[in-house]
Amino acid sequence: MKVISVASKKGGVGKSTTAVTLSAHLAGRGKTLLVDADEELRSAWHWTTKKAGYDGWGFDVQLYSAFIDQDNPGEGYDYVVLDTKGGEGRDELAALSRNSSLLIIPTKPDGVSSDGLVATLEPLLEKGIANYRVLLADVPPAPNSDGMDMRMELDNAGIPLFHHSIRHAVAVSKAAREGICVRDVKGDRYAKLVWMDYELISREVISHVK
Ligand SMILES: Nc1ncnc2c1ncn2[C@@H]1O[C@H](COP(=O)(O)OP(=O)(O)OP(=O)(O)O)[C@@H](O)[C@H]1O
Ligand SMILES: [Mg+2]
Repeated sequence: MKVISVASKKGGVGKSTTAVTLSAHLAGRGKTLLVDADEELRSAWHWTTKKAGYDGWGFDVQLYSAFIDQDNPGEGYDYVVLDTKGGEGRDELAALSRNSSLLIIPTKPDGVSSDGLVATLEPLLEKGIANYRVLLADVPPAPNSDGMDMRMELDNAGIPLFHHSIRHAVAVSKAAREGICVRDVKGDRYAKLVWMDYELISREVISHVK
């Protein structure tokens, strides 16, 4: 069983979007469980359970309280994807990384300095923790260069990054509203493109955890 956790100090950076969409990809490769550990918002849970009769997910979903209540949480699954609440500090990130095969830290390139993120992640680097990757998500299209600029800043600071980024696509929030996978959003070609972005990320994830 490989545990893949999605976390960040900042809120609203694409954690739940990443956990849900990545789970849909991993489900094509192995038995997958999505665990919603943000019991206050339950975004991943609501997104994946709201549309009655929809069978486009391919994975199971549990709330963290139910997951942790079992004798052997995650038993029988190849991949367990954990969506966490925002605001995890350095120590929590370090603890999560120890208990996971891979820790994914999404961030939006908001045009401001990435110093805050670097400061949060430096202790992981100092402690020699290497099983995490920063994911640039919701990246605006060219000619905007925020995504490239932030990639270069983080790279220069020695922060490990996924090679691919996730583009900005309104189809993502439409999918969440409708309770479907972004792959199934109709009439928006960016839906397929952002789904393919996550396909590339899922390949990187698999190569990190195998
Ligand atoms: N690639 C994307 N393109 C466009 N919008 C996106 C993208 N990724 C995320 N968003 C939007 O950004 C907002 C925050 O995303 P999401 O809920 O996944 O973040 P989060 O980190 O889980 O937030 P929270 O900290 O509240 O749990 C949502 O409205 C979501 O639809
Ligand atoms: Mg969330």
